[in-house]
Amino acid sequence: MSLLIVSFSPDFLMNNRENSRSNFDACVVIDVLRATSTIVTALSNGASEVLPVLNLEDAIEFGKMGYLIGGERGGIKPLGFALGNSPAEYCTDIVKDRKICLTTTNGTRALINARKYANDIYVASFLNLSSTVERLSVYDNIAIICAGNDGDVSYEDTQLAGFIIEKLCVIRSYALSDSALIALGLWQELGEPRFVGSHAKKLIELGFEKDVEYCSSIDVNSIVALYDGKVIRKFQG
Ligand code: MLT
Repeated sequence: MSLLIVSFSPDFLMNNRENSRSNFDACVVIDVLRATSTIVTALSNGASEVLPVLNLEDAIEFGKMGYLIGGERGGIKPLGFALGNSPAEYCTDIVKDRKICLTTTNGTRALINARKYANDIYVASFLNLSSTVERLSVYDNIAIICAGNDGDVSYEDTQLAGFIIEKLCVIRSYALSDSALIALGLWQELGEPRFVGSHAKKLIELGFEKDVEYCSSIDVNSIVALYDGKVIRKFQG
């Protein structure tokens, strides 16, 4: 039977069993607050692609090649960057037809790390939940990879992982790993997004309350974002 597994942080899969590329048909990466919500917003507002990179220096180099560079360290826009990591900054006026290079503390790292596990890597948020689930349902074995917080579990990422599992299981049958059962159990207990985890609190302290609210909106767009291991683009089915 097809399998759903949740990685609570990018390294969780690596630390467990013999997970490798051959185990999964697709991965879906989640960094609800805020990288994957920002990527989905940028693509939905017309950005032609988002290139995730690990380091600030790499992003700056891509900036010299014409990419709009965005991201954060400690939640704040790095010096010399055009954009931070607030989805609100990625509006149509700014991103339409632009290539974006993004580097964030956990989210872009999780995306790049996911290349170890599958060729097809989807980018999920509450914002594009249903369209992503519909696309994921064509695959058998799926790893749901949460970016987490600096190696720790993220309350918000785990909620979305559970919501994805709940919706996938309506479409077809899967065996659920223990991690998938934990995420599903959390989501079923809450029944709606509840953003009170440590990173949500930190973002609110930094003045990003509106981002926290926005990132909890369900299905505000219907894009599917696919990372082919190089760049993230809208998947045209
Ligand atoms: C990250 O990648 O760690 C986050 O997206 C941080 C943030 O909220 O900007």
